[in-house]
Amino acid sequence: MILTTGGTGYIGSHTVVELQKAGFEVLIIDNLSNSNAEIIDRIEQITGIRPFFELLDLKNKEKTFDLFKKYPKIEAVVHFAASKAVGESVQKPLMYYENNIGSLLNILQAMEKYHCLHFVFSSSCTVYGQPDILPVTEKSIRQPAESPYGNTKMISEDIIKDFAVSNKSFQAIALRYFNPIGAHESGLIGELPNGIPNNLVPFVTQTAFGLRPKLSIFGNDYNTPDGSCIRDYINVVDLAQAHVVAIKRLLDNKNKNNFEFFNIGTGKGISVLEIVKTFEKVTDLKLNYEIIGRRIGDIEKIWAETSLANEELGWKAQRNLEETLLSAWNWECNYRKTN
Ligand code: UD1
Repeated sequence: MILTTGGTGYIGSHTVVELQKAGFEVLIIDNLSNSNAEIIDRIEQITGIRPFFELLDLKNKEKTFDLFKKYPKIEAVVHFAASKAVGESVQKPLMYYENNIGSLLNILQAMEKYHCLHFVFSSSCTVYGQPDILPVTEKSIRQPAESPYGNTKMISEDIIKDFAVSNKSFQAIALRYFNPIGAHESGLIGELPNGIPNNLVPFVTQTAFGLRPKLSIFGNDYNTPDGSCIRDYINVVDLAQAHVVAIKRLLDNKNKNNFEFFNIGTGKGISVLEIVKTFEKVTDLKLNYEIIGRRIGDIEKIWAETSLANEELGWKAQRNLEETLLSAWNWECNYRKTN
């Protein structure tokens, strides 16, 4: 049985589907602070299997320990549960440290006590800051975080590293996600931000659907071919599949050391304006947008070197930008029609 913390969230729910498709039994825990229990029904609709579910806040240490007592079959943990809004983290840093670091400490302590020693962690390309050399490899230096959110990812990696040094039986992989976008092909699960989206693609789909009057593009005076920022946008199902291969690597003892890192991206840099143009092309819609000033804290450009994930995990992004943006649009339309 695989425990997925935050398994009803955006990346968590897609990973639960892929884990089930690969034959794993899945237990989800979530405090539903940024997601909905209905997602469990939707996962069942997609896979035909209902995952186990416990409503649990990982900040509650006692209940986290009880969980491992109740489910002695847990053999590995994929840890998604965390707060993720960069701007909010600047406003509420203590909440972010408590949520993201407190939860990590509790889950690791529970794992140690119950001898469950396989761990996959959701890290982020945010740890690289603005790299001097592109694409970034796993060996690129980490840079001081721009936000408390980013700092929680750095600190979390360090905590896992220190634990891995102290306990050689503990086996961990950190996946450094680039920018996850898109939705499951069924249109039943996808990204569902609370309130006004911070991230680009949900803002694009909500604008196209008429929920937002216009998209603001943050800056066209960057040192990039079209002046807008560049990111590496990775399809969420491809990303979910990276977790499945990471789990299998740990369970099959194929890992080379007891804490490994992998970049999970496409290896291609795409600009904000290219996202808009590609979205318009695949949906045949005109998007209302304007270019405004830069957003504080944005880096200019980043994309991944993915050969390590390719060689070691046997993983490579499969889905192209066109189908990924179409899946995001399909999800937005499906969701709005039924809610
Ligand atoms: C940020 C975080 C990343 C985190 C991710 C998910 C940093 C540096 N990055 O990524 O770690 O995993 O959020 O929450 O902390 N844009 C617009 N208009 C909008 C929204 C975005 O032009 O309305 C542009 C941004 O300037 C950026 C690109 O779109 O160039 C992507 O932005 P976004 O989706 O917010 O992701 P990141 O900031 O790259």
